[in-house]
Amino acid sequence: MAESIPKTITVNLSRTPYKVMVGNGLLAQTGQHAAETGLTGHCGILTDSNVATLYLKEVRKSLQDAGFHVDEHIIPAGEASKSMSHSEDACRAFIRAGLDRKSFLVALGGGVVGDLAGFVAAIFYRGIPYIQLPTTIVSQVDSSVGGKTGVNTVEGKNLIGAFHQPSLVLADPATLTSLPPREFREGFAEIIKHAAIRDPAMLDDLLAHDPNNATNLTDIIANNIAIKARIVEEDEKETSGTRALLNFGHTIGHAIEALAGYGNLLHGEAISLGLRAATILSEKLAGLDPAFSNKIIKTLHHYHLPLTLSPTLTTPELMEKVGRDKKFAAGNPRFVLLKSPGNAFLADVSLSDIRSTIEALRSEPNPTD
Ligand SMILES: NC(=O)c1ccc[n+]([C@@H]2O[C@H](COP(=O)([O-])OP(=O)(O)OC[C@H]3O[C@@H](n4cnc5c(N)ncnc54)[C@H](O)[C@@H]3O)[C@@H](O)[C@H]2O)c1
Ligand SMILES: [Zn+2]
Repeated sequence: MAESIPKTITVNLSRTPYKVMVGNGLLAQTGQHAAETGLTGHCGILTDSNVATLYLKEVRKSLQDAGFHVDEHIIPAGEASKSMSHSEDACRAFIRAGLDRKSFLVALGGGVVGDLAGFVAAIFYRGIPYIQLPTTIVSQVDSSVGGKTGVNTVEGKNLIGAFHQPSLVLADPATLTSLPPREFREGFAEIIKHAAIRDPAMLDDLLAHDPNNATNLTDIIANNIAIKARIVEEDEKETSGTRALLNFGHTIGHAIEALAGYGNLLHGEAISLGLRAATILSEKLAGLDPAFSNKIIKTLHHYHLPLTLSPTLTTPELMEKVGRDKKFAAGNPRFVLLKSPGNAFLADVSLSDIRSTIEALRSEPNPTD
């Protein structure tokens, strides 16, 4: 794909500001941009088995051409690699390869690679810089920006980790063309979430985009990164509540994802159902205009995302999962609701409202114009 002039968004954190660049062809310029960021010396690329086949050669060459000494560590693709044992393996591999506290890491892949590489960078020699080269929609618009890194344990997802901001993010939308269609489309659930909570006009751009077209996405990706960047600037460590607004659609969505069994419903597919649930609750409890709910539903439908809950996922089992959500601290169901387009807030929602909303997800939505 032809190179384009990249768009640049700055994440203005007082201690660790950094640039996020978005543009087709950026992967091949990794070395140059890493050098311009002031990184030097020995770097370790962390990537997964799928992405290595597609993009490792290009990234390695770019870094070598810019004078970096490059080593790499490849993990098996999939969520199971986001573990303490894989982080230890990566640390040990990079120590053996000669990386030290003056080195830096390069995360090349989706959110699994990004979260793991960021965590390894946070603990390697007590913390070294890293850059993110996200290659999925979720990782470009969400996980590569904001510095949340971590791994899963059997007890739960993302329970061990560190805040460690990247030094640079290079999002190359041309990489999205190699995603399988289902994985491509699921990423739009997070984009639609961003539109709902911060930029309702973006829904028109999303409805105008062909859902099977993985090109011409630079503007949409850049606009989404800007939303995430502004939220992270307002609430870097998730203490003020602003960053929690990114959980819109995720409370019931996570319960559905967990009950379906990880992998049966992709995360974005479960979040699509969770977003529909959140609009139902927002209409009932916060007076959201049903016309806006309809528009969200229409956009999810446009990207072929599921909207009707399978009868195999029972209400009592879903309620049990909702109750276990870590955001429901002290039995207080803190939920993200919308008052109006682009205007989200945290509210307590009763268990009976959650139950009736889950029931409402069982009938097909009827989006009108
Ligand atoms: N840190 C955060 O703030 C944050 C935010 C959201 C999600 N996450 C985390 O992100 C992870 C999910 O990320 P994901 O959805 O990117 O999943 P992923 O990293 O597992 O990637 C999905 C699949 O696509 C493959 N792949 C990646 N890029 C490809 C490409 N360009 N072409 C073809 N195949 C490609 C991968 O090998 C993998 O099989 C979860 O672990 C989640 O917890 C973190
Ligand atoms: Zn999500």
